[in-house]
Amino acid sequence: MNLKDKVILVSGATGGMGEELVKLLSQEQCKLALFARREKKLKKLKETLESESTQITYKTCDVQHKSQVKSAIDHTLKTYGKIDLAILTAGILVPNPIQTFDSSIIKQTMDINFMGVVYFTEQLLKVMKKQHEGTIAAVSTLPDHRGVPGWGAYGASKAAISWLMESIRAEAKQEYDINVITIKPGSVETPMIQEYHRPGSITPDKAAKIMINGIKKEKRVIQFPIAQVLSIRLQDLFPPIAYDLLPIEQAKGAGYPKVEEE
Ligand SMILES: NC(=O)c1ccc[n+]([C@@H]2O[C@H](COP(=O)([O-])OP(=O)(O)OC[C@H]3O[C@@H](n4cnc5c(N)ncnc54)[C@H](OP(=O)(O)O)[C@@H]3O)[C@@H](O)[C@H]2O)c1
Repeated sequence: MNLKDKVILVSGATGGMGEELVKLLSQEQCKLALFARREKKLKKLKETLESESTQITYKTCDVQHKSQVKSAIDHTLKTYGKIDLAILTAGILVPNPIQTFDSSIIKQTMDINFMGVVYFTEQLLKVMKKQHEGTIAAVSTLPDHRGVPGWGAYGASKAAISWLMESIRAEAKQEYDINVITIKPGSVETPMIQEYHRPGSITPDKAAKIMINGIKKEKRVIQFPIAQVLSIRLQDLFPPIAYDLLPIEQAKGAGYPKVEEE
């Protein structure tokens, strides 16, 4: 896929990976529509990155509200008249320890991480079906097959994204010529994981480069970094009895909050 002159929507544009994506995309002579909650950061991105060859528009959008996602799509269409590519990166990471098992954390995580992607996909499919083309790339996570101690809320929301994307991918392509891509990053040094030490993590600009290269190649699944891909996919093969023997504290990771039983 050549990104020149393409209309590209980015959700979570103010985040670690989102911002790096926007920086790289601004060099591709495309038209960008940026969405997140922090208006000041969106404004700054436009001020710093807009050029003669790259147009940028933005609007605040809280992805857990269907009406705000609809407004984001309407804003993009009103500004540019079409949407060629949507990269959906908005997300949160909140630990949910078993000691204080709390459904509100799970609901909030599902509302933002999963339903945010669902609301965008609902609108994007309508637009792209009419266009008979388009690409939806949603960010899941590398460990999307097996549960991870302490991270059930996040993992469930991301596993749901991977399932959803894979469920619509073949039909979207065959019936409407719409590409559906699942992006599965391993550890990336962004504000999201700044409190947690993750060995083998890569920088957000490297992650963004891999994502853009994968999108240009129209890959169905973009997963990285390779060492973590091999390790996670190997663990996917463990039978439950062996998987449950993996050290729990190591799986939670350094920096995981210590909590007392309620
Ligand atoms: N970092 C990693 O190691 C890693 C690994 C695997 C997957 N991921 C995934 O990669 C994506 C990007 O993460 P990141 O590491 O770049 O995180 P980040 O730096 O924390 O950025 C998260 C982005 O999501 C936006 N966001 C959060 N809640 C939102 C909401 N309710 N509505 C709209 N936007 C919202 C934030 O913008 P505002 O605060 O301005 O709204 C921000 O732009 C996420 O989906 C994350 O789960 C990250």
